[in-house]
Amino acid sequence: MLRAEHISKQLGGRQILDDVDFAIAPSQIVALLGPSGCGKTSLLRALSLLAPPDSGRLSVGERNYEFPNGLGTPWQTLYPELTVVFQQFPLWPHLRIRHNLLLPLELHGEKNADGRMSELCDELGLTPLLHLFPMQLSVGQRQRAALVRALLPQPKYLLLDEVTSAQDVEHIKRMIGLLKKSALNGTAIVLATHLIRFARGLAERFYFIDEGRIVESGPAEGLGTPRTERLRDFLFVGDQL
Ligand SMILES: Nc1ncnc2c1ncn2[C@@H]1O[C@H](COP(=O)(O)OP(=O)(O)O)[C@@H](O)[C@H]1O
Ligand SMILES: [Mg+2]
Repeated sequence: MLRAEHISKQLGGRQILDDVDFAIAPSQIVALLGPSGCGKTSLLRALSLLAPPDSGRLSVGERNYEFPNGLGTPWQTLYPELTVVFQQFPLWPHLRIRHNLLLPLELHGEKNADGRMSELCDELGLTPLLHLFPMQLSVGQRQRAALVRALLPQPKYLLLDEVTSAQDVEHIKRMIGLLKKSALNGTAIVLATHLIRFARGLAERFYFIDEGRIVESGPAEGLGTPRTERLRDFLFVGDQL
């Protein structure tokens, strides 16, 4: 279980996350919805400990963190239990795609991920590109490579930030298939997105965040019958596009 309780964060004198409660169980797919600037990326950064919250509690499996931590939070990466694909999905420019995908796992002592990598790359159309450098790929191909890199360790928790942003509909469909399969195999997936249809196609539950606060959450069917006016407005505009 990944659980955040009363998470708050200020940046630049502004409240970016305000008393956020969030939870995801193994094998669940949860959509994190909300307008641009509402705090989705900030929440993923907090959940992954890359930008720890100012206050609140976070538990990732057996590990518990409490903020503020008087001693300072010991910097700790949750990889490979938790992996993230960020919006800019950075790859190492001087390494071929194959090495970009395999290096993090190799540094963790796992040298036998080739077979798994081939399967994932086949599913996302990356196999012919493995010998190329990131600069030789399109933005969409790079984004899919970053997704494969995050899936490769079979994480317990996978945080995806607008992972469809550079994808066409066919690749979004392939991603949906792959993510469903990963969830069935035990990975819990948080999908930060403003693509409501993508969220509806995949997620079991949703959180709707606005101005750093969770405004509404519940089973994904609830997106058909929003309880708050803010979510109703957001979904209405989405339907017009
Ligand atoms: N390092 C930072 N310093 C100051 N403000 C920030 C910083 N990072 C993000 N913000 C602000 O936090 C808010 C939430 O940003 P973000 O989490 O990126 O939103 P989203 O991912 O939902 O678009 C925005 O208003 C953004 O300008
Ligand atoms: Mg964002």
